[in-house]
Amino acid sequence: MDNVYIMTHPLIRHKITMLRDETTGTNEFRTLVGEIATLMGYEALRDLPTNDVAIKTPIETCMSPMICGKKMAIVPILRAGLGMVSGILALVPSAKVGHIGLFRDPVTHEPQEYYCKLPESIDQRTILVLDPMLATGGSACAAVDFIKQHGGVNIKFMCIIAAPEGLKKLQASHPDIQIYVGQLDRCLNENAYICPGLGDAGDRIFGTK
Ligand code: PRP
Ligand code: URA
Repeated sequence: MDNVYIMTHPLIRHKITMLRDETTGTNEFRTLVGEIATLMGYEALRDLPTNDVAIKTPIETCMSPMICGKKMAIVPILRAGLGMVSGILALVPSAKVGHIGLFRDPVTHEPQEYYCKLPESIDQRTILVLDPMLATGGSACAAVDFIKQHGGVNIKFMCIIAAPEGLKKLQASHPDIQIYVGQLDRCLNENAYICPGLGDAGDRIFGTK
């Protein structure tokens, strides 16, 4: 699984355990999702290209690396992906933010699109697609399909919890993208929810039911 990165850092694992806890309330849940996104973002962005530039320190002039090229695009899948945006912007404040609105049909579990808007020059950007949950993989595949149709090339997908079924589907459909997973869970249940998972991520982030 060359293009799949599963996090092992104890800080990420600890925070995911707190997310899973059904007694974790909306405010804490939201904070944790942002913090986990920052920690995972640090890992996912380690290959951002840099150029050495001349810089004058108080002591002398030297060459030192700066991130180069077109800036990044962050693309959360609505709604739950929104919870991860602040955590990535904390690392790359100048990133542009696109949005892809998808919800799962409660019966078929197929993704239904309701909104899509991407930053300009998407073909030249490193694109980080955010969604806390990769369950059947339908939403992630649809989001990456859409981005590719609009010219996106350098795509990374980041989720906090994945089911093996969804990870397999995303890899098979898009073998060219990098996939960052906080933790890989056991399976899906009969309602296509991840087990043990954390329940409905959107509802827990936004306090809805
Ligand atoms: C959740 C989650 C993913 C999707 C994952 O969103 O945030 O987008 O389900 O499931 P899949 O891998 O089977 O497609 P949901 O459809 O519940 O919408 P919401 O974020 O608006 O609550
Ligand atoms: N969407 C969620 O929010 N949770 C799941 O377990 C599966 C899909």
